[in-house]
Amino acid sequence: MCGIFGYIGDKKTAPSMVLTGLKTLEYRGYDSWGVAVVPDSADEKKVIFVKKKAGKIGAATVSDLPPGSLAFGHTRWATHGGVTDKNAHPHLDCTKMIAVIHNGIVENHETLRNELKKKGHVFVSETDTEVIAHLVEEYLKKFSVLPRDAAPAFSKAVQATFKDLDGLNAIIVINTMADEMVAARNGSPLVVGFGTGENFLASDPVALLPYTKQVHFLEDDEMVVVTRQNIHIFNAHSGERIRPKKQLLTWTAEETEKGKFPYFMLKEIHEQPGMLSEIAADSTQQASALARELQKASRIYLVGSGTSGYAARAGSYYFATVGQKITNWSSPTEMHHHIDILPKNAVMLVMSQSGETMDLLDVVKRAKEHGTRVLSLVNVVNSSLWRMSDLSLPIGAGPEKGVASTKAFTATVAQLILMAYAMNNDTKTGQKLVAQAAKATRAVLTEKNVKLIKDVAGSLKNAEHLFVVGRGISYVTVMECALKIKEISYIHAEGVSAGELKHGPLALITKSATCIVYAPNDQHHASAIANAMEMKARGAHIIGVAPTKEDVFDEYIPVPDIGEASIIPNVVVGQLLAYYLTLERGFDPDMPRNLAKSVTVK
Ligand code: G6P
Repeated sequence: MCGIFGYIGDKKTAPSMVLTGLKTLEYRGYDSWGVAVVPDSADEKKVIFVKKKAGKIGAATVSDLPPGSLAFGHTRWATHGGVTDKNAHPHLDCTKMIAVIHNGIVENHETLRNELKKKGHVFVSETDTEVIAHLVEEYLKKFSVLPRDAAPAFSKAVQATFKDLDGLNAIIVINTMADEMVAARNGSPLVVGFGTGENFLASDPVALLPYTKQVHFLEDDEMVVVTRQNIHIFNAHSGERIRPKKQLLTWTAEETEKGKFPYFMLKEIHEQPGMLSEIAADSTQQASALARELQKASRIYLVGSGTSGYAARAGSYYFATVGQKITNWSSPTEMHHHIDILPKNAVMLVMSQSGETMDLLDVVKRAKEHGTRVLSLVNVVNSSLWRMSDLSLPIGAGPEKGVASTKAFTATVAQLILMAYAMNNDTKTGQKLVAQAAKATRAVLTEKNVKLIKDVAGSLKNAEHLFVVGRGISYVTVMECALKIKEISYIHAEGVSAGELKHGPLALITKSATCIVYAPNDQHHASAIANAMEMKARGAHIIGVAPTKEDVFDEYIPVPDIGEASIIPNVVVGQLLAYYLTLERGFDPDMPRNLAKSVTVK
């Protein structure tokens, strides 16, 4: 959840480099931020200098920190302790010579804190993280007898500390005596970047792109000592040396910037037509490879969280109707209840933008222990999920930074369409549909259409509740659209299956209700229109999203009819509606409250 960036090298501007790195990572957590530096000057080197603040980084500077060539920083998504300056990372020990940043939850922090307090340590924050700094301090006292022991003793102290921590954690520790960063990972992601005369650590490879493309993703229980010249990786428990598995990052730094757009979300929405064309052109072979694996399965379980979960759900419709396979869908947290009875030859197909969602990693681990084959569709190549799966394929959405996922959804659905048709030995139709989706999405994004959606958003900005209604695969459309609306505009929006209206939700449909009805040209069209009429008869205001204008619609947003792939342009309408509603209400679509892009805690 938290963003982490660390630098050691020749440059004296480490604090500002770290701040820039954190700004790139702010989407991972943005309730507070902090930077720590070991000053270069011998006079000042006695303590670590820290600047940390509650709130977004925004236009913050670190010009008040002394120059240094060893620094690290953190953007926080609070777990333990409120959002205050004091609770922001980095955290220091009693001597202020040791600093730590951390992602995860130290489950035994209370026990550790009480023991440390008994030994005289003074705590200044409410966080679980602070125990790490004091524990390292404690072990360092034990291990470093002579000053020349400082460096080896320091990594030993961090290792001993890491072993004491329960839970899933990634930590980086620095101190004033050893010219190095020492890091360890269990669960939460950490990646090491290889430079020349400088090296890096980050929670997300995106932050490393301006500096290096050569990286090593730390595996669970791996520790690393990063100096200017060397990267030494070893197992945190056995101490055994590990050769770095160097990977080359394929994204460019430019792809991760906003460019001419005011927000990442809008940029990513507009990237969809091009992205879909590329998927149509390039992904049929990989879809066929995965389809072959799926054909062998006795049963398919599609799993994903949040927006990826809705993509998985869309896939279950395609796999059933086109692929002719019995397919179940589940969120990872609910999937646990099914694992023990998964039949032989069942396959779990997992989808994720980040590849780091902890709930997913957790269920994948259990499925593998059970002997289930795990295939995955992942946007961040080489992420934890990618590496854990038996077979992983890229979604091909490119870097996505808006917390509310957009292009990762349409890309995943496009991949699933290709796969379903490949299962039916008809790759051509799959490819044609995705190419049509690219064209239809471009049509949704024309200036005229966007203006229309903006106007609808303007008329809805004071709504307290929105009902988004659809049938069949449009049930997935409406759940995803409702999710987008609540995530960023904070309007309560409910995705309702049109068929289920009469079993409950209709009780809420009175004069003040606003209902957005999706009625694509499929076998459910007539029923969807009939449901719109039922709502209108009870006084609801109906906004129709459909290829043709119907009398029942009070307002109408046109969307091209592209048959089976209509979900893609339909969801893009919902993304735009959510985006403009958010602007109308004065909120930041890229950084919704309480949410984070990559959810690395359970
Ligand atoms: C978070 C994000 C969502 C995302 C979900 C799953 O909740 O805010 O936008 O859909 O995680 O993330 P994943 O990276 O696994 O697709």
